[in-house]
Amino acid sequence: MNTSILTAVRTRVGRIRRAARRIIVRSRQAARRLDPATSQRYKDHVISRALETPLGEYPFFHLSIAEILPPDLFEGLRKLMSQEKNSGARQDRGQDSPLYVTRRSPLYDSMDRHALHLRRIFNDPEVIRAFLSRFYVNPTDELVQSLSILDREFEFTYCEPDRFQNIHCDLPTKYLSFVIYFADGELTPEEQRRNGTVLYNADVEPVYSAEFEANRAVCFASHFRSYHGFSTTIHRDALVIFIVDRSLNDAWFRARPWAEKSPFPFWAERMEHKLRSAPMLEFSNDPDAISAARASTRVNAPEGRVLVDDDGRPVPPRQVH
Ligand SMILES: [Fe+2]
Repeated sequence: MNTSILTAVRTRVGRIRRAARRIIVRSRQAARRLDPATSQRYKDHVISRALETPLGEYPFFHLSIAEILPPDLFEGLRKLMSQEKNSGARQDRGQDSPLYVTRRSPLYDSMDRHALHLRRIFNDPEVIRAFLSRFYVNPTDELVQSLSILDREFEFTYCEPDRFQNIHCDLPTKYLSFVIYFADGELTPEEQRRNGTVLYNADVEPVYSAEFEANRAVCFASHFRSYHGFSTTIHRDALVIFIVDRSLNDAWFRARPWAEKSPFPFWAERMEHKLRSAPMLEFSNDPDAISAARASTRVNAPEGRVLVDDDGRPVPPRQVH
């Protein structure tokens, strides 16, 4: 790349970064104006849902949380989603499959009161600690303080019917992953079951983990066999939140080898580092279990993806009765 192009690119990147910082400062200022009593009520609700929901252990540790948000907050977000979805400002989200593009509305720059509350809840150290405690062994203060929402993927997502998301494990920089469902109208039991998050067992066979119903969330912590995805029979609207170590995340995007080939040592190395520095209950804090999980992972494509047919493509989930 010649010098003038490089300078132009750097100038543009600098401008984008400064604009993003201004937005984040503005949203922090707006968040300080939120009603403290309402914030506390929301936070208490989410913490109690985090701690009271029974843990699902198969095919890997996860929570399927009914009523994750207080009803008034959920309804406020539902109205916001409807406005965003119909605003014409939706963006493309290309990472779900090479075959189609999902749509999305970013929330990190939203000044909507409900989006600000949601952001405050999931950036709160006590909330993060409550969810971490379901998946990690004695999460330390240092770990809790290092984690926050991943802004670039804090968003509503809209997927059309008859789609299928690549099977994958989330990036090693993600400590907690959430999908909150925005089901609308009356869905049949079959539609609820077929549109929830699909978790896969060690043989990459699908297990439907949750009914796709309003205000239910699926939450899990990424590791070597947290294979998951979704498929759709209806319009599937959701909100995704990832809790990351931002410094590790920045380092990942600076250093990741884009053309990395099997067995993807960079991805595996970062995942192993995460599991050893923040031991998970699922591995019983056992170093040998982590090594065994790394040796047997089915991840065989960049960015944690799992391709399982003879032509190297993801295979849609077979219907499970
Ligand atoms: Fe994912």
